[in-house]
Amino acid sequence: MQARGLNSVWTAADKVGGQAIERLAEDISSIDWDVYERQKKALRDGKETELGAIEAPQLIPPSAHPHEGREDALAAGEKALRQGQVAIITVAGGQASRLGFDGPKGAFPLGVISGASLFQMFAGQIQRLRQVYDCALPWIIQTGPGNHLETMAFFEKHSHFGLGSDSIDFVCQGTLPALAPNGELLLSAPHRLFRNPDGHGGVYRALKGSGTIPRLRTAGITTLFYCQVDNPLVWMADPIFIGHHLLAQARMSVKVVEKTDPAEKVGLVVIDGARNRCVEYSDISDDLQAERAEDGGLRFCAGNIAIHLFDLDFAEEMAEASLQLHLARKQVLALPAGGLVAEERDGIKFETFVFDALPLAEKSVVQLADRALEFAPVKNRSGVDSIQTSKEALALRSERWLKESGLALDSAVVEGPIEFEPGLCLGPEDLRSRAEIVTNTCAGRLVKVTR
Ligand code: UD1
Repeated sequence: MQARGLNSVWTAADKVGGQAIERLAEDISSIDWDVYERQKKALRDGKETELGAIEAPQLIPPSAHPHEGREDALAAGEKALRQGQVAIITVAGGQASRLGFDGPKGAFPLGVISGASLFQMFAGQIQRLRQVYDCALPWIIQTGPGNHLETMAFFEKHSHFGLGSDSIDFVCQGTLPALAPNGELLLSAPHRLFRNPDGHGGVYRALKGSGTIPRLRTAGITTLFYCQVDNPLVWMADPIFIGHHLLAQARMSVKVVEKTDPAEKVGLVVIDGARNRCVEYSDISDDLQAERAEDGGLRFCAGNIAIHLFDLDFAEEMAEASLQLHLARKQVLALPAGGLVAEERDGIKFETFVFDALPLAEKSVVQLADRALEFAPVKNRSGVDSIQTSKEALALRSERWLKESGLALDSAVVEGPIEFEPGLCLGPEDLRSRAEIVTNTCAGRLVKVTR
C-alpha cells in the first residue's frame, strides 16, 4: 500500500520493519485526499485571504441596552430556551500554554476570590439557565487531541459541577497532517504522520462525525450557542441575541465589541460582497485597520469576540464545506527525509476557522456586545488580555450588577473585590429575583445565596 505519489513517506517504516508499515498504512488511510490536495494548493498559492471592497456591517445594539426590537427579540429568545431548542457549545481544544498553565485552559482557576475554574463559571451559568427556563440546555465541549482525556477527567473529578454527566458531551476535534515545504507529508515517527489539531473550524466535522448533530436534532435542538473557553464574561445563551438571530431567520450570527484601538488583536467583521464575514487581524493591513470614519471612530470597528449562533442544519452543512485552510509556517519536530530520529525542521501546519462559515450563511446578524459586561478574555500571563485584566473585569461587572440590583450585602466589609458564587445569577434582574444573599468576607466579598 502506498500513499499516492508519496513513496518517500514509507522509507523510515521500511527501515524499521515489524508493525511500522501496517501502522503507518492505517494512519495514512484516514487522510482525506481532497483536503490534502487543497492543502498543497494553498501552499502553492501562498496568498491566503483575498478581500474585496469591504464595508462596515450593520450592528444591533448590545443586549443590555434599550433598543428597537429588543422586547420582541427577548420574547423570541426566551421562547426558544423554554421550548428546549437551544444547546451550548464551548470550544476548548487549545492548550493554556500562553498562560503558562499545565492543563486544559478551562481548568484554569480564574474566580477572583473562590478560584473557581473557567469551566465551573460556565457550568454555573448553565445550571441557572436550566432552572430559569426549565429546559435541558445540553452542553457540548469541544476538546482537542491534546486535552480530551484530561478535560473529561477534570469534569469527573468535580462531579460535572452538578450538571449531570449525561447532559454534557465531550467531542474531540480532528487533526490535519502537517506538510513539508515541498508539499510532502511529514512524519513524527516512522509509523506515524505528523498531525496538528484542525483549528476550531473543525468543530463542524467533529459535531457531525461524533453523531452529536443527529442526537441534538432528535432532542428538539434547532439552535447552537457557541463560545470560546477563554472568555469568563460570556453571556451564555443570551436570549436577546438568540431572538434577533431567530427573527432575522439567520443561519449564523456573531457578536462583536467596538474596537477602538487599531492594534487590538481581534478579528474584524466586515461586509464583503454583500455578505458578513470575519477577517483575522493578521490578514488585514495596518492601514485599513487604522482607517477612520467621518465621526472619527475606526471605520472597521466590529471586533469579533467569537460568540456565535448557528442554525443546527447550517452547522451540519458546514461539516461538508471547503472552509479556507489557514497556514502557519513553524519549526516542527519531525523526521528528516530518510532519517529515523525526529529533529527540528520547517513545517507547515493547517487550520480552519469557525468564522469562515459566516459568508456561507445567506442571512446573519451582527450584534454589538457591551465590552464591560461580555468580553474580557484570558489569553496571556500578563499584559493585555491577561489573568489580571480578566479578573478585574469580572469584579467590576459583579460590582455593577450588585449596584443595579439595588440589593445590599449583609456584610460590614465594604472593601475588596466582589465575586458571585458561580451559578448565583445571570444579571442584576436575576439577582433581584433571588432570596437573601450573604457574603463570605474572608478574602473579599464572595456573594452566596441562601433561600
Ligand atoms: C480568536 C479569534 C479572533 C477573536 C478572538 C477573540 C481565531 C483565529 N481568532 O483569537 O478573531 O477576535 O479569538 O478572543 O480564532 N481552539 C480550539 N481548537 C483549535 C484552536 C483553538 O478549540 O484547534 C479554541 C481555543 O481553545 C480557544 C479558541 O479556540 O477557546 C480561540 O483560539 P485562539 O487560537 O486562542 O484564538 P485567538 O488568537 O485568541
